[in-house]
Amino acid sequence: MPVIPVDRAVGQRLSHTIRSRDGRVLLRAGVVLTAHDARRLQDTFGMRYILVHNEVLPDLDVQDVDLDERVRQDAMNSLRTTIDVVRRRTGKDASVQAFRAAESIVEAVLSADGVPMALAVLRTKEDDLLQHCVNTAAYSALIGIGAGLARRELELVTLGGLLHDLGKALIPVEILAKPGRLTPAEREVMNRHSQLGFEAISRDLPTLPAQVAAVAYQHHERLNGSGYPEGMRGEQIHRFARIVAVADVYDALCAMRPYKPPWPPHRAVAFLVHHPELFERDSVYQLMRKVAVYPTGTIVRLADRSLAVVLSQNADHPEAPFVLVVADHANVPVTPPRAVDLAVAGADLLPIHTASWRWPREVRAALDIEGVRAAARAALFDRGAGATRP
Ligand SMILES: [Fe+2]
Repeated sequence: MPVIPVDRAVGQRLSHTIRSRDGRVLLRAGVVLTAHDARRLQDTFGMRYILVHNEVLPDLDVQDVDLDERVRQDAMNSLRTTIDVVRRRTGKDASVQAFRAAESIVEAVLSADGVPMALAVLRTKEDDLLQHCVNTAAYSALIGIGAGLARRELELVTLGGLLHDLGKALIPVEILAKPGRLTPAEREVMNRHSQLGFEAISRDLPTLPAQVAAVAYQHHERLNGSGYPEGMRGEQIHRFARIVAVADVYDALCAMRPYKPPWPPHRAVAFLVHHPELFERDSVYQLMRKVAVYPTGTIVRLADRSLAVVLSQNADHPEAPFVLVVADHANVPVTPPRAVDLAVAGADLLPIHTASWRWPREVRAALDIEGVRAAARAALFDRGAGATRP
């Protein structure tokens, strides 16, 4: 189930249904993407990445990589209400609704445990802030589960993720939606959103526990003191805010921004891993274990330039998946294809060089597809993944 840029997916079969903000089906799973559809997804809906069927190994498709659609819509609706309360100072208390949304996100993430999540890439630009908040909440729940938080704590960290950017509802829209980079003065206004979010939660959602407002206030603090608004360090930063910071940055990196294209998941994870002075190691590790860093079906170049396809993940080494080597450095097919566990063979074959989006043409033409399928099934069977031996 490779994640590929929309413009390179023309002619390939979608592996998930794409919906608009109001739940309308834009394209159904299984259809072949046309150039017209691709343009519409990009231009009208701002989508940049998409999940497609693996043409050579269709058995590897995984369906359930997004939050349950109803949970996502409910959470977005409750967030919309909360934003309205905060903007218009209606005096209504939206705490209960926000809390319920967090509970159902926790429930959905718990029930999908073990399924690699690819929320960050499956997005349209509609309601970008809302989607970002819901994704951040779900990633915070994932990290919290990995960190062994108790149920009540899980709900609070998820609620913190859901409301972390609430202050942005009070930032002038010219700055919030400005295409292009912010000037230093605009950046300063934008950075006030953590303070504004803290105040809004304390004022308009008074029955929520104090930790939730603390997350809104501290989610841009960084371990080495380089963050804002206080420049707090290490454990001065609330534990939930350290978790939400990782979830927030991961989702932001994978998203389209006016000043940058969306990053593929492995690049976003690498960024977090390479900045232990900013982000809590353990939270990054827990996130890595649960998100699809190299989703099953991704085609990768190994360090020796051989070409492989990802068959499954190693929960403890998400950067080192279990792969099937199908061609050598010169794109000559390897027969029979060779299964390699990069977590074991890692030293020579990591890092993965580039995650390619589709089979190089000459490899695809020369490939013995039945042979590759049989080798993949046998490798997964031997690994105990439950596939049926041919
Ligand atoms: Fe923020």
